[in-house]
Amino acid sequence: MFKIAIIGCGNMGLTYARSFLQFNLVTRENLMLIAKDKNHARNLRKMDLGKVSSKIDNKLNDYGVIVLSVKPQDFSSVIEPLSKSLQPHNVVLSVMAGITLETLSGALGHEIIVRAMPNTPSQLGMGVTGFSASTSVNIHQISIIDNLLNTTGRTIFLEDESQIDAVTALSGSGPAYFFYIIKNMIDAGIEMGLEESVAAMLAKQTMLGSFHLMNQSPKKLEELISAVSSKGGTTEAAFRKFKERGFGESLKEAVWAAQKRARELSEAK
Ligand SMILES: NC(=O)c1ccc[n+]([C@@H]2O[C@H](COP(=O)([O-])OP(=O)(O)OC[C@H]3O[C@@H](n4cnc5c(N)ncnc54)[C@H](OP(=O)(O)O)[C@@H]3O)[C@@H](O)[C@H]2O)c1
Repeated sequence: MFKIAIIGCGNMGLTYARSFLQFNLVTRENLMLIAKDKNHARNLRKMDLGKVSSKIDNKLNDYGVIVLSVKPQDFSSVIEPLSKSLQPHNVVLSVMAGITLETLSGALGHEIIVRAMPNTPSQLGMGVTGFSASTSVNIHQISIIDNLLNTTGRTIFLEDESQIDAVTALSGSGPAYFFYIIKNMIDAGIEMGLEESVAAMLAKQTMLGSFHLMNQSPKKLEELISAVSSKGGTTEAAFRKFKERGFGESLKEAVWAAQKRARELSEAK
């Protein structure tokens, strides 16, 4: 079994540590958590997820997979020690938003790099991750990374790295769109005189039930919408307002805006 090191143990780094352990893809002895400062390292030790270090050094040679989960703006702080510690066989898995394979490879002087874009439901094993790899990564290494990433949910391999911008816009930012829609439904319920807890329960349970209906029904989304929209009825009145205000269009435009921003950010780095 190979060893795994995780550099940057915040939300994502800890999600990976817990998920890899949960699915027995690594043991505590073979998992190294690397924190920036001694305080954070002390807290990580208390969690007992694996070995803990506050140094990036050549002990990393031993680690088959090195996960890079610091914030993009902190990448510069790991470049020097990491590039000195890497050996050609190490597979680097970066989840840093907007940092391309070319930038990673150039900065680290390393060829074997995978870039992934997860989303927050990964914390519950219900995420979705799009990932792409530099051309030097072989199929065996891709399948190792795929197995690791799918401990946090579903995965999709993208031959074309530029599609990660669309993944970022759709599933990376997607949870926020979903929460925003629910929040506005709840607000409407409250304005209509419902208790907040009642409005929240109605909106959340409706989304949960509708999600399962969508997944289990053979019907297309348009048919599922029609099934709730009788002529002259309430849903039709709601959809008339959606059309009037261009809700569908603005949702699509918002996703496009996120994709454009993802592209700008990766071009700027
Ligand atoms: N959260 C998401 O849903 C999500 C989705 C897709 C991609 N990502 C990507 O995942 C990465 C991590 O995001 P996050 O939400 O997990 O951020 P986070 O909670 O802030 O975690 C980042 C961690 O990196 C540590 N760190 C910074 N510099 C370091 C260094 N030189 N050596 C070791 N550790 C260092 C930070 O320590 P301190 O706290 O001590 O500074 C912090 O614990 C980001 O690049 C983000 O773009 C996140």
